[in-house]
Amino acid sequence: MSWDDAWREGRTPWDAGQAAPPLVDLLASGALDGAKNALVPGCGGGWDVFAFAHARVRSVGLDVAESAAPVFARHRDEAKLDATRARLVVGDFFTFAPAERFDVIWDYTFLCALPPAWRARWAERMDTLLAPKGTLATLIFPATHPGPEYVGPPWPLHPDDVRALLLPRGFRELRMERPARSHPAREGKEWIALWSR
Ligand SMILES: C[S@@+](CC[C@H](N)C(=O)[O-])C[C@H]1O[C@@H](n2cnc3c(N)ncnc32)[C@H](O)[C@@H]1O
Repeated sequence: MSWDDAWREGRTPWDAGQAAPPLVDLLASGALDGAKNALVPGCGGGWDVFAFAHARVRSVGLDVAESAAPVFARHRDEAKLDATRARLVVGDFFTFAPAERFDVIWDYTFLCALPPAWRARWAERMDTLLAPKGTLATLIFPATHPGPEYVGPPWPLHPDDVRALLLPRGFRELRMERPARSHPAREGKEWIALWSR
């Protein structure tokens, strides 16, 4: 099933219906203060996009699924936000060519949704889309070890997987820790990490 079909048919089991608690905590901690704009690739229903907008960071949600757009728009209305603060771009992360680079990029349930063979291209795109002094924030999930018969998505993801993608590109690991809070079903399966160059 394509992503577009999933959104059209409402088969979105990953959608937690609220912003990721580790992102809410990260924004509240001041760690991303000073950021003017943020990108959320694979934003789906937009919850994390709206968390940035509520923290006064102009945010862009990017999603390849056209049928996610009405869902995003409905949630944005409910959040009392508009496109000047939380904009949706329907498009492919791998060809997205924005007018400006981003001070923050937030990855949650996006890298794990991509086939593992695409991960090197993910890192290359992050390098291209992030502003020179920007921060890449990754909520690494699901840090699980399913059996050999398991087929994603989501594809398991561990700190060392992300290190292997980003460190060779000149990213520095600023933080790697277990978040204090997670969506209930995801407790113990996440790591929050910050990276810069
Ligand atoms: C597992 S869902 C996660 C959605 C959202 N981050 C959340 O946590 O609710 C992955 C999302 O990535 C989007 N997606 C997949 N491939 C993409 C691509 N190449 N470019 C942009 N979005 C993509 C899908 O349409 C889907 O909405």
